Amino acid sequence: MKFFVDTADVTEIKELADVGLLDGVTTNPSLIAKSGRKFLDVVAEICEIVDGPVSAEVTAPDFDTMMKEAAVLRKIADNVAIKVPMTRDGIKTCKHLADDGVKVNVTLVFSAAQAILAAKAGAAFVSPFVGRLDDISHDGIMLIEDIVSIYGNYPEFGTEVLAASIRHPMHVIQSAQAGADVVTVPAKALWQLFNHPLTDKGLAGFEADWAKSGQSIL
Ligand code: E4P
Repeated sequence: MKFFVDTADVTEIKELADVGLLDGVTTNPSLIAKSGRKFLDVVAEICEIVDGPVSAEVTAPDFDTMMKEAAVLRKIADNVAIKVPMTRDGIKTCKHLADDGVKVNVTLVFSAAQAILAAKAGAAFVSPFVGRLDDISHDGIMLIEDIVSIYGNYPEFGTEVLAASIRHPMHVIQSAQAGADVVTVPAKALWQLFNHPLTDKGLAGFEADWAKSGQSIL
């Protein structure tokens, strides 16, 4: 399972990359706006930190302008993945870019039907939004299960299931149980994966006993 971080905050990305578990980054227009930085600059900087795919989203509603925006974003670095919305124009853009060898991430996916369209259009990633479905009392993880199961019926689909809108560690665990290829997770929730009170308690005990022993490894 791959771990992407869902942020445009370069400091957060550097801290996670330093641990060695970061496989990619996803951004979206809201995260870019939150960073307060210029879109192209921040994507370029992220691409220098992370070798894996960095999703940068087009913002136009129509095919022609999406293609023009994608051309600009593609030039930033080889590891830019173009993110397109799950619309008719977005899927058309996905098909054209994928045919040209570009990695495309189809975002704002809320149904299995939409995920089938993304795969048919050659998307490298499909992004079902788990948390936003949970927010309206639908089962976000069930959608991940459905998409993984459907894609499993068609080995010719090369699309990876990227569980998005992840809010907490249970979403990560349940996405893993459902067989998601990738999770994109806010930095805070990724760090929360490390935590367990018994780990803290056990470590405190080992440290105290080691101090009493008077020994040193070095
Ligand atoms: C995915 O690529 C999106 O950027 C993201 O996961 C959206 O999450 P949110 O619902 O927490 O905004």
